[in-house]
Amino acid sequence: MQVVTIGLGYIGLPTSALIAQNKIHVHGVDISQHVVDTINAGKIHIVEPDLDQAVAQVVQSGYLKAATKPIQADTYLVVVPTPFKGGNHEPDISYVKAATTAVIPLLKEGDLYIIESTSPVGTTEKMMEYIFTERPELEGKIYLAYCPERVLPGNVMYELVHNDRVIGGVNEASTQKAIAFYRQFVQGTLHPTNARTAEMCKLTENSSRDVQIAFANELSLICDKAGINVWELIELANKHPRVNILQPGCGVGGHCIAVDPYFIVSEFPMESRIIAQAREINNYKSFWCAEKVKSTRLAFELKEGREPAIAVMGLAFKPNIDDLRESPAIYITERILQDSGDADLFIVEPNVHEHKIFKLTHYKEAVEKADIVVFLVAHTEFKTLEIPTNKVVLDFCGVRKN
Ligand SMILES: NC(=O)c1ccc[n+]([C@@H]2O[C@H](COP(=O)([O-])OP(=O)(O)OC[C@H]3O[C@@H](n4cnc5c(N)ncnc54)[C@H](O)[C@@H]3O)[C@@H](O)[C@H]2O)c1
Repeated sequence: MQVVTIGLGYIGLPTSALIAQNKIHVHGVDISQHVVDTINAGKIHIVEPDLDQAVAQVVQSGYLKAATKPIQADTYLVVVPTPFKGGNHEPDISYVKAATTAVIPLLKEGDLYIIESTSPVGTTEKMMEYIFTERPELEGKIYLAYCPERVLPGNVMYELVHNDRVIGGVNEASTQKAIAFYRQFVQGTLHPTNARTAEMCKLTENSSRDVQIAFANELSLICDKAGINVWELIELANKHPRVNILQPGCGVGGHCIAVDPYFIVSEFPMESRIIAQAREINNYKSFWCAEKVKSTRLAFELKEGREPAIAVMGLAFKPNIDDLRESPAIYITERILQDSGDADLFIVEPNVHEHKIFKLTHYKEAVEKADIVVFLVAHTEFKTLEIPTNKVVLDFCGVRKN
């Protein structure tokens, strides 16, 4: 059996390595020559635990080869990016289309074509139409399915094997063919459905998280006005056996939860009111945090007759990682920078050595020098940090709640 994977990034490369570990020949395709060369040298271009050994082993044993062009295979897996574009956050499926264009001339009877990229509802059917327009003789003779990925970066090699998967074909035969493919290397349960439901399932999972976080963030705004400690409130409310409120923060970031809900909103704007509001509330929370820093700075200036020094604690989109993509902490830091004139600003991100825009300071030094300490990300280092009582603390992520 020969598999072609298209896109060798955070998801495509671990998936390719896992398939190859199961002694299936994988031809991995990426448009980046650097990515291809790195992998063929048995190395990796992304940070993911255990992936380096897996890639080194399968490249050495000959089961994984990388190239910039696909070859003829039995199964094609599309794992390219699906960002959004424009002011209305419309999904950009041009990468999926480009990957499909590359495999169309190679397809033959009996082949399986799977999209794993997070995609708007209807993408698999659209690609099916595209394929059959170009290759009408294949209609009814190949299998097409959508199978979303739900792994947690940092634990990908484990979750790829053990998570349940949702598998939706364009027809029953395609679903069964795709299930048989994944069964070779996935130990989690494989749940059959149709392609549209599988596409919507991925978007639903991340929208659900976004909506729940928006609820917590909305509570944090209400509590601030009402003079109530939101962390204590949520802890108490969660003592109810059927209530489980998430923690508020300085917004929502990352390339999934902050992005995928837009794929629903842009296509179903009339119906997706809670989902759209959740995106707005979570974005607004970041703006509100920046405004809060501004008003705290002005109050300090009025009281002390001088500009305060400010420590900004954390840039990543969630605790204890170095991933800054779509991070609300970056947005807030930029606004603080714009607002704070000549004030001394100490920017901290313990998981990153260097940043191309911000000069980074060690977290202990930043706290020592600052008058106002702003916690944006609940990194472990910040939990037990000694903060003298004369400093003003703004804790937007609950890292100092206990
Ligand atoms: N990273 C995650 O945690 C995660 C989780 C679930 C789903 N997803 C989804 O999986 C998909 C891939 O995400 P990722 O994080 O692996 O992206 P990524 O940016 O890490 O990797 C994508 C790779 O595809 C390559 N590429 C782009 N166009 C190509 C083309 N036409 N042909 C061949 N290669 C091409 C890029 O060079 C890049 O190396 C996205 O739809 C994403 O939403 C990601």
